[in-house]
Amino acid sequence: MSRILAVGLATLDIIHTTEAYPAEDAEVRALSQRVARGGNAANTLDVLAQLGHGGQWLGVLADDPEAERIASDLRERGIDCGRAAVARGRCSPVSHVICSRRTGTRTIIHHRDLPELTPTRFAAVALSGLDWLHFEGRNPPATLEMIRDARARAPDLPISVEVEKPREGVEALAESADLVLFSRVYAEAAGYNDGESFLAAAPARNLAYCAWGSEGAWLRQPDGRAVHRAAESPRRVVDTLGAGDCFNAGVLHAHLSGESAVTALEWGNRIAGAKCGQEGLEGLGTVLPPA
Ligand code: FRU
Repeated sequence: MSRILAVGLATLDIIHTTEAYPAEDAEVRALSQRVARGGNAANTLDVLAQLGHGGQWLGVLADDPEAERIASDLRERGIDCGRAAVARGRCSPVSHVICSRRTGTRTIIHHRDLPELTPTRFAAVALSGLDWLHFEGRNPPATLEMIRDARARAPDLPISVEVEKPREGVEALAESADLVLFSRVYAEAAGYNDGESFLAAAPARNLAYCAWGSEGAWLRQPDGRAVHRAAESPRRVVDTLGAGDCFNAGVLHAHLSGESAVTALEWGNRIAGAKCGQEGLEGLGTVLPPA
């Protein structure tokens, strides 16, 4: 069983499914409501655990009842969160999510009142025995310090970075990773309309992936060649919340299983597509060959 350490967010998601996205100042009734643990790094680990990998989550937890709920959910899924930092007197990050049944879009209102993980905290976490290290591309200066620390302590440990949002300094993070997972949101903010032209200019020195929703996903190989694979869309799009996190899990799972970068692209698409056809992340481990 391979072991992955992922550094990033764990949140509480309060998800309302509505018939359509509401107009401003409207009052609408939700078709359903559910509460789930979310957060990109935590979601990716959740799916990787379902695929048979051992996961450790590192980030900051508050000390309110929601944090207990987040931590116990991670533990139930076999994800170790024992080294997380605890910010006393703060509240847990919460996302209010509106999933529109008509279009399948998910609109996220995220509230966060927690300090970021520090490089000192990261330095106290053992890296021996790990097979992979994954970072959300947030808080770039501190995260770059953590990557440098990891390179010094564990030179052979593969490092991936998810670049989801444009943030000052995030390019340096991407360039320091072995594998970068870019989002469409980031590519569009950089002025590109497709994954291939974006990746040709993207700040990555080795492997780079970019998922583009229903238009599939692109890979740029270390020699610069681009590969595209069509999306594996479900018959009906039910819920796209966390689809990108599932794509990332599919890609990492393939690399951890010794598969090629093209297979990783295909597995990312397959699991992201399966995710869009169902609510939540439960049961996605059956979509790909196990570890
Ligand atoms: C989905 C997600 C949600 C979370 C939000 C954080 O990708 O991780 O679970 O609320 O994004 O930005």
